[in-house]
Amino acid sequence: MPLFQINTIESHTVVYVWKITESFNELFRSVVLKDVSLARVENMKAESHQKGFLAVRKLLSEAGYDDFDLYYDEFGKPHLKDGKNISISHSNDFSVIAISDVNLGIDLEILKDKTLKLAPRYMDVSHLENLNGQEKLQKATVVWGIKESIFKIKNEPGISFKDHIFENEFHLSDKKCVTELRFENKKELFDIQFYFIENYSLVIAFEKN
Ligand SMILES: CC(C)(COP(=O)(O)OP(=O)(O)OC[C@H]1O[C@@H](n2cnc3c(N)ncnc32)[C@H](O)[C@@H]1OP(=O)(O)O)[C@@H](O)C(=O)NCCC(=O)NCCS
Repeated sequence: MPLFQINTIESHTVVYVWKITESFNELFRSVVLKDVSLARVENMKAESHQKGFLAVRKLLSEAGYDDFDLYYDEFGKPHLKDGKNISISHSNDFSVIAISDVNLGIDLEILKDKTLKLAPRYMDVSHLENLNGQEKLQKATVVWGIKESIFKIKNEPGISFKDHIFENEFHLSDKKCVTELRFENKKELFDIQFYFIENYSLVIAFEKN
């Protein structure tokens, strides 16, 4: 099944989700890549990574773009030539892109026990109190996604998930929260939205006005 979902958020952002069920060959034959992208695909070790990358090109096409409209800066952050903002994530069977009038970060994560096990390394674990096992896993994965998404917005080396990004307390049912970045003597707030697709969490972060 190809295109899985298109979701408009706050009138300035569209999220496109692809569920990867195609073979590598099917995906590869259906996209046109520039030389630098072709070289990237050829150098990827895992076929799942190659398919995630190619599925992003399918999503670009859904959004009216192609591989030639996309370029990366020195840190690996993607940009669109027309000046719109883009953020990209892939995880196992899904790829997502978000295209927006504002700077944003998106992160897709499969729910896996390892993320919960590592929670003390990247979040305030008091936020996991009074939850059952599945809720703990979901919330820890969302918090990880929040931090990845903010990292993608800022695109600045040196940001530590544990020491610089602080999620406010929230409930899973809220589907949103506010998170603070305290980095290099500056405080910045981010509006977060999140939801679940099958056994994946999808987080979208925006700079707060
Ligand atoms: C760059 C990073 C955010 C990517 O996240 P990920 O979960 O590994 O992978 P995702 O699939 O969600 O995202 C990958 C996409 O992020 C985008 N990306 C890469 N570097 C980026 C950057 N500096 N800024 C914004 N977006 C970036 C790219 O589009 C990439 O996909 P593509 O190259 O195929 O187009 C992540 O690897 C990273 O470096 N995180 C910060 C490091 C850190 O502090 N880690 C843990 C501390 S406890």
